[in-house]
Amino acid sequence: MQILEDRFHRKHDYLRVSLIDRCNLNCFYCNPKENKSESVRYQQNLTLYELVRLVKLFVLEFNIRKIRFTGGEPMIRKDIIPLFERLYDLKQSHGFQLALTSNGTTLAPHLERLQQLGLDRLNISLDTLDREVFEQITGHDKIYEVLQAIGTAEKLAYHPLKINAVGMRGINDHELVEIVDQFKDRDFNLRFIEFMPFGNNAWKNEKFISCRDMKSAIESRFRLDPLRPEANSVAKDFRVRDHQCTVSFISPISNHFCSSCNRLRVGSSGKLKLCLLSADDSGLNIRDLFRSGLDDKEIAGRIIAALQFKQEVHPPVKQLLTFSENQMMAIGG
Ligand code: GTP
Ligand code: 5AD
Repeated sequence: MQILEDRFHRKHDYLRVSLIDRCNLNCFYCNPKENKSESVRYQQNLTLYELVRLVKLFVLEFNIRKIRFTGGEPMIRKDIIPLFERLYDLKQSHGFQLALTSNGTTLAPHLERLQQLGLDRLNISLDTLDREVFEQITGHDKIYEVLQAIGTAEKLAYHPLKINAVGMRGINDHELVEIVDQFKDRDFNLRFIEFMPFGNNAWKNEKFISCRDMKSAIESRFRLDPLRPEANSVAKDFRVRDHQCTVSFISPISNHFCSSCNRLRVGSSGKLKLCLLSADDSGLNIRDLFRSGLDDKEIAGRIIAALQFKQEVHPPVKQLLTFSENQMMAIGG
C-alpha cells in the first residue's frame, strides 16, 4: 500500500471519477458554450470494466477512503447500477465510502437500489425554487423531477443529503434566503457555492457573488452558528439556529481551500486530473495505461510520479478565464 502524498505533504484519499462527460441539462454555468459532438466524446469514456479496475486500483494500491462519482450527469450512464453491483464486494471488504453528485433529474427511481448497493453520500444540485428560473439556468423544465429526487432521498434517510446551489447575481441571488426558508426544518445540508470561471462557460464578474455576501444575505433572516469543520471539506458549515438544516459556503474563488486538498480526479476518458481548476493536467491517461497492458502496481507508480506535479494553489480568476477547455463537463466538479 502506498500513500498518495504530493510535494506539499498533502495526502490524497478522496477520488472523484467522472462517469460520463454528457449531461441531460444545459446549465449555462457549467456547460461549454459550444458542445462537441456527443458521439465522439461518448466513445472516449472508460468502459464498465475499466471503471471497476480503476476503483480497485485506487482502493487496493492507495487505500482511497472516498470515491465520488460525477459527470456530466452520472445517472445518464446506462451501466451505473451494474457498476455499483460490481463494486459491492470490494466496498464490503474495504469499507470506503461511495458518493454521488447528481443533477437529480433522473435519480428518484434508482435511489433505493443505489442505497442497497452501498451509496453512502448524495449531493444534488438545485439552484432555485422557481420553475422558470430553473429553466432559464438549465434549459429544461425539470424542477419537479429534482424536487422528487430530494424527497425520495429524504424518505430513504440519506445522510448527509447535500443540496448544492451556485449563487449568481441577477439570476438566483434573490432566492438564497428562500432556499434556506423552504428547507429549514429538513435534515439537509444546503450549500451555497461561488460561481467558478472555466474559460468557456458564461462566467462574468457581474454575476459573481462571494460567500461573504451570500452569508450576509442569509443572516438577514437566520442566525448561523459555526460548526466544527469536516476534515478536508471544501465547505464552511453552520447550524441554522432553531432549525434542523445546516448551511455551508464553498468559496473556491474568494478563499480557496488548496492547502487541505485531498482530492484527485479521473475524467470520463481516463485522464488523471490533479486539480479541478488548473489547466495543466497530469499528462497521464489511465485508460491508455490499462490498454497498454501495464499492471496495476506499475500504473500506481506512474500515478504517484504524476502527483508530484500538483501545484500548491490553483491559478487566479484572470488566468482561469483564459483556459479554452471546459473542465466542468468532463470532470464534474
Ligand atoms: P463532499 O464529498 O460532500 O465534500 O462533496 P464536495 O463538496 O466535494 O462535492 P460536490 O460534487 O457536491 O461539489 C460541490 C462544489 O464544490 C462544486 O461546485 C465543486 O465544483 C466544488 N469543488 C469540489 N471539489 C473542489 C476542488 O477540489 N476545488 C475546487 N475549486 N472546487 C471544488
Ligand atoms: N461554479 C461553481 N459550481 C459549479 N457547478 C457546476 N459548474 C459550476 C461553476 N461554474 C456545481 C454544480 C454541481 C457541482 C458538481 O458543481 O452545481 O452541484
